[in-house]
Amino acid sequence: MELNLAGKVAVITGGSSGIGREISLSFATEGVHIAIIANDQHKGDKVVTECRNRGVDAVFIGCDVSDESSLQAAVNDAILEKFGKIDILINSAAPYVRTGGQINTILEQKPEISERFIDVILKGAIHSTRTVLPFMMSQSWGRIIYIGSDVGRTGDSHQPVYAASKAGVVGLMKSIAQFAGPHNIMVNCVSPALTLTEEDEELLVKNYGWGTEEGKKKLTGAYPTRKLAVAEDIANMVVFLCSDRASDLTGQVISVNGGFCMM
Ligand SMILES: NC(=O)c1ccc[n+]([C@@H]2O[C@H](COP(=O)([O-])OP(=O)(O)OC[C@H]3O[C@@H](n4cnc5c(N)ncnc54)[C@H](O)[C@@H]3O)[C@@H](O)[C@H]2O)c1
Repeated sequence: MELNLAGKVAVITGGSSGIGREISLSFATEGVHIAIIANDQHKGDKVVTECRNRGVDAVFIGCDVSDESSLQAAVNDAILEKFGKIDILINSAAPYVRTGGQINTILEQKPEISERFIDVILKGAIHSTRTVLPFMMSQSWGRIIYIGSDVGRTGDSHQPVYAASKAGVVGLMKSIAQFAGPHNIMVNCVSPALTLTEEDEELLVKNYGWGTEEGKKKLTGAYPTRKLAVAEDIANMVVFLCSDRASDLTGQVISVNGGFCMM
């Protein structure tokens, strides 16, 4: 299937790790130039090298997406200066996923952790959208994808503020899809359930008993496919949605979740 993505420029927040890393690599394989915005330089530099090895240009910019002025500087000074345009924006940055810091009830979660979810996931997505959208509008073409989470659709008693932040992202996505549609900018949310990434093992063992056969069976039992998604499953959907093959698809939440929730 011809995706017509070669030569495009993608900005990927959180592109240095996990699902965001896989998205960066998948785009690079399609000939898309990559700008990663994240807060872990070491990992980011590694992904940049992996992208360049696939024959595209790539850059890492260390930046906290919750700080709008730093984000604007990153986009204007580092990305537009280098590439001259932005065609695709992927919002994947999120804090604490690896440390399991989100696995707490509303009564147990420390207020500063709650606020960090809102700041990075929701405000970060607002900041990056507001920064990048005018450039897409000026070229009458763009794709924006928010990486959501199924708990933002179902709720989760042990991830209340994380779930609320992800639900907020859905409201943002639909609003931007309505606003940007006339400018040929398609906007969607890809919503994973639990997804295996390179970094996942420790979290899954700690929080879900993934280390034992019994734990694995119990966990995958919640999925009709009896397995967990891997980061590549999410990246495949993101790449498709950004291609010309999805030119009439906007304002949707698409779960890639082995049927974990169906809505
Ligand atoms: N892995 C899962 O099971 C799963 C499930 C559902 C949804 N998600 C969502 O998918 C996305 C990626 O998750 P992951 O598991 O790959 O996470 P990860 O921890 O591997 O990667 C998170 C990325 O976000 C970046 N980041 C964190 N805080 C930042 C900040 N303040 N400013 C800029 N960058 C920041 C990190 O540098 C890293 O690149 C997240 O939005 C997460 O909520 C993941």
